[in-house]
Amino acid sequence: MAPTVERKNIDLAPLKAAKVPIFFIVGGPGSGKGTQCDKIVAKYGLTHLSSGDLLRDEVKSGSPRGSQLTAIMESGALVPLEVVLDLVKEAMLKAIEKGSKGFLIDGYPREVAQGQQFESEIQEAKLVLFFDVAEDTLVKRLLHRAQTSGRADDNIDTIKKRLHTFVTSTAPVVDYYESKGKLVRINAEGSVDDIFGVVVANLDKVTSKI
Ligand code: AP5
Ligand code: MG
Repeated sequence: MAPTVERKNIDLAPLKAAKVPIFFIVGGPGSGKGTQCDKIVAKYGLTHLSSGDLLRDEVKSGSPRGSQLTAIMESGALVPLEVVLDLVKEAMLKAIEKGSKGFLIDGYPREVAQGQQFESEIQEAKLVLFFDVAEDTLVKRLLHRAQTSGRADDNIDTIKKRLHTFVTSTAPVVDYYESKGKLVRINAEGSVDDIFGVVVANLDKVTSKI
């Protein structure tokens, strides 16, 4: 049986009232979500929240919630939806207090239900950027990063499991937002700067409202 997840009572009123734009950033493991988000932050000043980074911070904090997460992440599976959503909500509220003008939610949603729950509890995403990269490229990038990242999930066994989770759980997210007309599919095999050029062309279409 899955362990009981500790939930928090989170007041979302300030976040809902702010009505800032929200972008979901999805793509396979190593597709460049974090790399492109850093560049988007530098150009547009949005707040970057990576669900994976939030989970790793929670693990490092030594909290009871964090101790349940390590095994799941090292197996390449998905952490329960409520845990991720609570961490994202808390981080968004902190950023709103500091005057955030919008969010890049990186690595979220990883399953259709995550997107639906986020949008019903918080607000609809403006666009979903999907970084489309072939599996062999993803594996090459992650094995290269493994030399320096220190990430417990950057090893070939876990990388294979992360890829499997992406194909089974996250690929339907892409179809779901495509059918809603909100998906921006970006071929992310090229150079970081070329990919960013495509990102900018798409974000500029909506930036007048950022
Ligand atoms: P997370 O931390 O999100 O990992 P991931 O999705 O596997 O993606 P990465 O962070 O490894 O890669 P990235 O796409 O950010 O690429 P990056 O820019 O770093 O999640 C980890 C785990 O947490 C999950 O497996 C799951 O267990 C859990 N989790 C997270 N979110 C969850 C959620 N919503 N629900 C449930 N569970 C969740 O680039 C990778 C490498 O490639 C770098 O070395 C970079 O320099 C290089 N690179 C980038 N772009 C290029 C390029 N164009 N050309 C060449 N190299 C490039
Ligand atoms: Mg990342």
